[in-house]
This record gives sequence, structure tokens and C-alpha cells, in this order.
Amino acid sequence: MNPGLKKYLSEVFRDRVRFDEPMSVHTSLKIGGPADAYVMPVQEEELVFLVDRLKKDGVFYCVMGAGTNLLVRDQGIRGVVISLAEGFTKIRKAAGGANRVVARSGARLAAVCRYALKHSLSGMNFALGIPGSVGGAVTMNAGTGLGSMAGVVENLRMLFDDGVAMSLDKSRIQWSYRGFAIARPGRDKSGEGIILEAEFLLCPADPNLLKKEAHSLIQKRKTTQPWRAASAGCFFKNPDSGDSAGRLIDSAGLKGFRVGDAEVSKKHANFIVNRGHASADDILRLMEAVQERVYKNFNLKLEPEVKIVGQ
Ligand code: EPU
Repeated sequence: MNPGLKKYLSEVFRDRVRFDEPMSVHTSLKIGGPADAYVMPVQEEELVFLVDRLKKDGVFYCVMGAGTNLLVRDQGIRGVVISLAEGFTKIRKAAGGANRVVARSGARLAAVCRYALKHSLSGMNFALGIPGSVGGAVTMNAGTGLGSMAGVVENLRMLFDDGVAMSLDKSRIQWSYRGFAIARPGRDKSGEGIILEAEFLLCPADPNLLKKEAHSLIQKRKTTQPWRAASAGCFFKNPDSGDSAGRLIDSAGLKGFRVGDAEVSKKHANFIVNRGHASADDILRLMEAVQERVYKNFNLKLEPEVKIVGQ
């Protein structure tokens, strides 16, 4: 990293920047080499200036939420990781209505679910047990059979590549399976940007019924998924055919299949778990072996849902 940028980051962010930071500390897979710098902004303005500076210096950067859907390669990230998980976490009621909740993008999705339960609001229970941050969940259109982010997000506040921050209502969001795109006002190309906040429209509900439903959903997850294991949630997207990647991997006889300490979970075959000391390379080799076997058996190419970054 160039010394001028290092000096700037140290002076502006002080104890909110770390150099050569191992990403294994920040990912749910507990894997990943060092990032040149790991920066934790707390204010929107600070983030705008930071991105502007990185662009001017031509330095690669990526934005990270909770690190739960992320595989960082073993040599780490040559550039800057901007983490919103420490400073961008506030959740509040929206000014415009009692059933609207606004969460900053680094807030945990689980915290939004708890907030909704506490305020007797329904609509978020589908997300119970989905790991990750609000920003990550929106980017991935995270969901289950019961619903997805597309069904609850009313508004997004985003910071675009040219430094403009603006709110966009849901008519400007094009949701897809595990993805989303933005139609930015006045632009013909879809906008690339950082999600700053999401507003959710929820419904008043009976608190006891909500809590009962929440309890049974969590119990179901605990019995069907490797709940406490180091993983990145479901590793592959479900194929377009409508089948479940987990069922296909299971039918191919791959539960428990290992490369080093990387293992196809014995509980749910679409989870790859780190049994202790797996490297990113182990995970990638296991991923390829799974893809090959599923392709051979079912003529289907599984695509990773997990984002793979670094060198
Ligand atoms: N199945 C197997 N073997 C397995 C896993 C699943 O036979 O090892 C079978 C199940 O018995 C069931 C079917 O496959 O009949 C579907 O399984 P499940 O209900 O677990 O759903 P899924 O399609 O595998 C999706 C989401 C999960 C979410 C669950 C529950 C994707 C890629 N996965 O899994 O999301 O928790 O539904 O709603 O969309 C994630 O995105 O990280 C994630 C875990």
C-alpha cells in the first residue's frame, strides 16, 4: 500500500483502521489471508471521503458486512476492506410510519428480526437464522421458502460510485434470485453502489403468535442445518430447475466428503464447513469436486452463492 494512503488512513481512522488484518477473524468460515487495510467508518460522510480517496489513488476496495457469505482466498486482499459491521449498525423506527423499520447496512439481519419481534411487527420472521448483515442480505436478496428481502424492503439509501448518496424507493429495485439491481434516476445504466440503509415495511401482529412462529423456525433450522459450525451458510445457489442444491449433493453421496479440513456437512449437504484448519484452497478444491460430481450425475452446473474474493 502506498505510504501516503497509509498515513491518511492512520490519521483519519486512528484505532478504526488495521493494517495486514487477517480476514479469518472477520468471516464466518474463519478463513482468509490478510487485507492490506481493514477500515471501520462510522459516518456516511467519512465513507464518502474514504471511497473518493481510494478511487483517486486507484486502490481496490470492497465493502464487507458480517462476512457470513464470503470466502477470502489464502493470500488475502490487495487493497482496502471497508467494514460496515462495526459502525453502521443502528436500527430505528422510520419517521414515516409505525410499521416501518430502518436499519443501517452493517446491522445484523438477526438484530432486525429481534427488533421486529420486540415491536410486535411481522414480516421478518422468514429471515430468522439467516446469518449476515442487512447490506449483504439486500445484495443477495437473501431468503428462504417463506420469503425474501424483495418482499419487505420499501426503500434503500445508497452511495453511488460518483460519490452521490440518495434514497431509492422499491420501484427502482429489480430483484432476482439471490441478487438485485438498481435503476438510478436519470441514468440508463443500472447503478453500482454501496447500500447505506434499508427501510422495511412490516405489519402489526400478535406478539405471542409471532414469538411462537419464530421459535419453531429456529428449531427447524437447528435440526436441519449445521447451526454452530464454521460455514458460509448455503454454499451453492439452488439451480433454476427448482431442485435443491443440498438434495442433489446429498443424492450424489457427498455428505461428509472432505478436502483437508473442509467438509460437506453431514447435516445439510449444501453447507461446506471448516472443521478447524481448512484453508480457502481446501474449500475451493472441495467446491470443484462437488460441482464435478453433481455435473456428472445430474448434468447440472452448481454456481456458488458464496462470494469469493482475494488472491
Ligand atoms: N435435502 C436433502 N439433503 C440435504 C439437504 C436438503 O435431501 O442434505 C432436501 C430436504 O430434505 C428438502 C429439500 O432438499 O426436501 C430442500 O431442503 P431445504 O428445505 O433445506 O431447502 P434448501 O433449498 O436446501 C433453502 C435456502 C436456505 C434456507 C432453506 C430453508 C438456498 C440456496 N438455500 O435451502 O438458505 O435456509 O431453504 O428455508 O436458497 C442460505 O441461503 O445460506 C441458506 C442456508
